[in-house]
Amino acid sequence: MVELFGHAVILYLRYRWKIGDLDNAFRKYAEMYVKIASREKGALIKLGQLASLRVDIFPDIVSETLAHLQDRVEPRPFSEVSDQLKHELGFGWRKLFGSFDKDAIAAASLGQVHRATLISGEEVAVKILYPGIEKTVWLDLACARCALWAFNFVTISDLRLVFLEIKTSILREMNYEIEADVAEEIAGNLSRDEKLAKKIKVPKIYRETSRTRILTMEFISGAPLREFVTSSQGSKESKSTVFWMVRAFLHQMFVDGLFHCDPHPGNLLIDSEQRIVLLDFGMNKRISDRLREGLRMNVWATMRRDSRAYAKSLEKAGMIGSKDLQAVQKVAEVMFDPEYFNLTPKEFAGLDFSRYLRRMRFELRKVNSFVLPDGVVMWFRSFSLLLTLGAELAPGMRPVEILAPHMAHYLAEEANRVT
Ligand SMILES: Nc1ncnc2c1ncn2[C@@H]1O[C@H](COP(=O)(O)OP(=O)(O)O)[C@@H](O)[C@H]1O
Ligand SMILES: [Mg+2]
Repeated sequence: MVELFGHAVILYLRYRWKIGDLDNAFRKYAEMYVKIASREKGALIKLGQLASLRVDIFPDIVSETLAHLQDRVEPRPFSEVSDQLKHELGFGWRKLFGSFDKDAIAAASLGQVHRATLISGEEVAVKILYPGIEKTVWLDLACARCALWAFNFVTISDLRLVFLEIKTSILREMNYEIEADVAEEIAGNLSRDEKLAKKIKVPKIYRETSRTRILTMEFISGAPLREFVTSSQGSKESKSTVFWMVRAFLHQMFVDGLFHCDPHPGNLLIDSEQRIVLLDFGMNKRISDRLREGLRMNVWATMRRDSRAYAKSLEKAGMIGSKDLQAVQKVAEVMFDPEYFNLTPKEFAGLDFSRYLRRMRFELRKVNSFVLPDGVVMWFRSFSLLLTLGAELAPGMRPVEILAPHMAHYLAEEANRVT
């Protein structure tokens, strides 16, 4: 930790005085971060992963290196799990569970999942928070704040706000009661759309065997999404999966204003009825109606490459003041340059963005007021993960194609609601 902080200070000084090969220095720092985070686990892994998505903030080399952080670690021994169960339940697991698999199904940065059966016979998946992880996470967050501070000087937006939103999210993720509440609320929201209800499944929560640090869910045997994709890439099934997955997430984002922020393949299964199973509601966000509406307008404006509407949507979302409408419109014009717009990941990887970025930076400098209302960071995370996943499932499909059928659907809905 001290190591991370010390290097951050050196990096900052080199940046300030432009000493040596900065790209190389940033890469080395990110590599060191990955090494230390993988060793120390806890919040550092989470923070690094979230940071890797902020390509708008960190130098490319940092995002690329951080993307290598894996959220899978060696499971803790069952004796620790059983102690934690006893601590949380107030008695040994045998009182409430018929059986408990000693080997974990999965182990991540904050907790691990075991398969078990209830006394009444139901098959369940039990997620157990690592004992003592809260303390480690608090410490990590305090230190990471110092370490990330170095990057605040190379960024356009306010890193402190970003950090605060991420920190709040990690702390909430350690309370499984919140996760249970959110899973049930989102399940209820999605079930209001009859068609979606047939295609999406959220595991039922068993409250009697759940606590703040234990979450008991219906066990779902399904194929991990990634496996399903490999076996059916480009097929009708995988296209239909993309359609319903995107619809389920846009429903959360644009209709309900409460959404799952972690749509990566590890959190999605396909069950025997070909339904998409949503797991892991630990990272979630509720946004205000104003922000929800602003972001919806923003996506709509982007799809139509309408730079005026784009600027208006950011004003609506509370991200810019009216004085900056003109300047943001200019930024959007650069953003919507057909040569760089609506690319597939393959095209994206093959393009040289240096000229584009120079133009963008030039226009961005003219924007005076830019704030990030609460929820934007998480929304952006969820939305970009969703599009990445969509492109992975249906290669060749462009972002606008992925979104188009749904945007019309939600705009029509909004019109119906108003009338
Ligand atoms: N209800 C469930 N049924 C079947 N497998 C599950 C269930 N919940 C979790 N898992 C398995 O455990 C893994 C980790 O669960 P998850 O809730 O994503 O935990 P984490 O917050 O640690 O990422 C999932 O990727 C999945 O393989
Ligand atoms: Mg997960």
